[in-house]
Amino acid sequence: MFGRAASIRPLVSQLKLGARPTRARPSFKFSTSPPRRAAGSNLTAPPPAYGPIGVARALQPGTTASPTIFTDEFSLADRVALVTGAERGIGLEMALALVEAGARAVYCVDLPKAPGEEWAKVREYVGALKGKTGVGEARLEYVCADVTDQEAMWKVGKTIGDREGRMDVGIAAAGILKPDSPCLTYPAKLFQQVQDVNVNGVLFTAQAAGQQMERFGNGGSIIMIASISGHGSNKGHEWVSYNTSKSAVLQMARSMACELGPQRIRVNTISPAYINTKMTGAFLAKNPEVGERWAALHPLGYIGRPDELRGAAVWLASDASSFCTGTDFSVNGGYLAW
Ligand SMILES: NC(=O)c1ccc[n+]([C@@H]2O[C@H](COP(=O)([O-])OP(=O)(O)OC[C@H]3O[C@@H](n4cnc5c(N)ncnc54)[C@H](O)[C@@H]3O)[C@@H](O)[C@H]2O)c1
Repeated sequence: MFGRAASIRPLVSQLKLGARPTRARPSFKFSTSPPRRAAGSNLTAPPPAYGPIGVARALQPGTTASPTIFTDEFSLADRVALVTGAERGIGLEMALALVEAGARAVYCVDLPKAPGEEWAKVREYVGALKGKTGVGEARLEYVCADVTDQEAMWKVGKTIGDREGRMDVGIAAAGILKPDSPCLTYPAKLFQQVQDVNVNGVLFTAQAAGQQMERFGNGGSIIMIASISGHGSNKGHEWVSYNTSKSAVLQMARSMACELGPQRIRVNTISPAYINTKMTGAFLAKNPEVGERWAALHPLGYIGRPDELRGAAVWLASDASSFCTGTDFSVNGGYLAW
């Protein structure tokens, strides 16, 4: 299941034997401690582990003047992440962004037994990033798993937890889109397939990451890739299965955020508009005339690049968004603004 660089076998046999994790749990703690309060005590969270930031830092007597916004709040130093659908497209783009923000290890989960050339090149690039400003151990790992298999996904999460001693970020980016089909005769099987990946798969991914976040007690950030298709129907398309699945993801995030807030596990969604990936590329190859129409649907006048989602992903994954949960960030070129 795990790729060459992350062979799962020894870990699985250790698990069976009940052996202890191979790595000691790092002492690093998530910085935004929960407001565990005694009656009458302070109602806000304490400052991050790296000390007061912003105005509080400026006002601290004897403070050293140094910017913290990128070195601390946006930094993912030593963090561990699981990203599904990350053999390519939006998932891979986000996986690389996490590494660049300092993540120690990012596990890319996807269907192919072995990752393709594009993923391998990105991994090579990650290797070359080591030692550059803000970049940590920088490991990009590959795991072959199907997000619709709950047991397998839990096992992936546990194996990563055993190996790394923490889990900080889970991004559910695996998703599928089927060709147009009228809603009144939409085939049950096709509808189910889309829900299996886009809804069940997102839940199982969130569980896999969330269980490990709960286990290690450092909090964490779960990010589900929803879509503008969850906010409204795509004009000119018969995508009832996809649109339904993306609305479900928006509500799943809100529901999980409310349950997991006390453990400082934050759950949010990102809703992109049309982004130029193989998913949309495959569609446009069959319907070339649609590209112009899609581009015109965005006030910015173009179809988005996957890298235009990097900032949102890192922000949501990091302490910079520590007070955000149960909400959606629509990165959409103005698509919803008309
Ligand atoms: N491209 C867009 O315009 C767009 C817009 C809004 C939302 N999204 C969403 O962003 C996410 C990523 O889409 P993308 O454009 O990068 O698409 P993509 O097709 O390029 O990538 C999706 C990845 O998910 C993987 N995947 C599919 N089924 C899987 C399964 N059962 N188990 C594990 N992996 C599986 C695929 O192998 C693929 O690598 C999806 O959830 C998609 O719905 C995309």
